[in-house]
Amino acid sequence: MTSEKIVDGIWWTGVNVYTNDLFEGIWPIPYGVSINSYIVKGDKVALIDLVKAGGGGSSENIIDQLASIGVAMKDISYIILNHLEPDHTGFVAHIRELCPTAEILTSERGVPLVEAFYGLKERVRAVKDGEELDLGGGKVLQFFYAPNVHWPETMVTYEKSTKVLFPCDAFGSFGALKGCIFDDTISDDDRHFFENETLRYYANIVATFSTSVINAIKKLGGLDIKVIAPSHGLIWRKDPKRIIDEYIRYAGYMSDYAEPEITVIWGSMYGNTETIMRAALRGIAKEGVKVAIHKVPETDASWVLASAWQSAGLVIAMPTYEYTIFPPVDYVLELMKLKHFWHKKVLRIGSYGWVGGAQKHFAEKTEKMFWDHIGPLEYQGAPKAADLEKAEQLGQELAREVKAIPAKRKRGAGGEG
Ligand SMILES: Cc1cc2nc3c(=O)[nH]c(=O)nc-3n(C[C@H](O)[C@H](O)[C@H](O)COP(=O)(O)O)c2cc1C
Ligand SMILES: [Fe+2]
Ligand SMILES: [Fe+2]
Repeated sequence: MTSEKIVDGIWWTGVNVYTNDLFEGIWPIPYGVSINSYIVKGDKVALIDLVKAGGGGSSENIIDQLASIGVAMKDISYIILNHLEPDHTGFVAHIRELCPTAEILTSERGVPLVEAFYGLKERVRAVKDGEELDLGGGKVLQFFYAPNVHWPETMVTYEKSTKVLFPCDAFGSFGALKGCIFDDTISDDDRHFFENETLRYYANIVATFSTSVINAIKKLGGLDIKVIAPSHGLIWRKDPKRIIDEYIRYAGYMSDYAEPEITVIWGSMYGNTETIMRAALRGIAKEGVKVAIHKVPETDASWVLASAWQSAGLVIAMPTYEYTIFPPVDYVLELMKLKHFWHKKVLRIGSYGWVGGAQKHFAEKTEKMFWDHIGPLEYQGAPKAADLEKAEQLGQELAREVKAIPAKRKRGAGGEG
């Protein structure tokens, strides 16, 4: 893709990365990811957010894109770094060589990070919260600090005449762009695809910072926003409110119960835990509650988290392994703890062989997560008829409790996922 015009004087320029490398070294991106960069051209030219270094020729790509709209590197006066994570800044040292006179602008907390990551100190300037930068030709940029959306130094940039917001990671998603960059030029299938990838991105990357997301949305509430141009995923020009509402809903899942759905996370070595899990599923089915079932480690934690983030109910089914939690389930629990998967209704079930241990560690690990526990149900070896009956009852009880939770805003067109 070459540079694409968003509004007069503003273009998308970026890369679609397809790689077997994991995003942040953790999360699979089998459908790729876009790293969006933006050009704002008044009398002076500003480049907002960059791309990572190297990766699939991304830096060379962006130079060509700039050339396609008649912008040479030496024409760039300002490089605006909303967020210092290297997916958006890896290119900065190289770009400094290509346009040595350009000034790098970032937040006060961003300045030391530019030096720490890239050794750059010259012509690096901190902008203040609310500060404006007049590019001439009618284009005026305004900066607003948005700490901890995703890193502490994060800020957003707003172009006042066109009302375009550049919020960096906020409102972003996994999934490379498929030839269209706007929310109103994609098919319903692709809309569904991006909704799923937005939720997965949120649960994997942003969840921990949900309070900061809400604070940032409140802080920017007074702005008239016509277009949202994030650093990953689609540009929202038809319906920017839609992605803001989605983010408010996702962020709300940290402090309240999520959707009346159940995610089953299970792992088993020899099937004794699977048998009880199936009994719990029969109980859930009696209540007709929507359920998603993820076996670990076969399903990557990335998708398990996406599903669990939006479910009010969880079934955690795993055996004891070396006196503690079966490790693949433990890994998912660790991530959920780290990422504030709070306020869930949870049934934990599983088998042990000798004296158990998983339940003790499970209770300790989840102690501060505001979980309402149903059960637990543990048994030695294979489940007996009474265990299976009990699991079915507990599954039904969980489903009833989950059903009593009012659904949040319905997901949009094609938005089941
Ligand atoms: C490698 C390994 C480690 C185990 N460690 C423990 C243990 O520490 N405590 C215990 O009570 N049972 C332990 N067990 C027994 C399992 O918890 C038991 O076999 C259980 O039924 C397995 O459930 P599954 O069939 O769902 O895999 C262990 C089994 C294996 C294979
Ligand atoms: Fe980030
Ligand atoms: Fe990012």
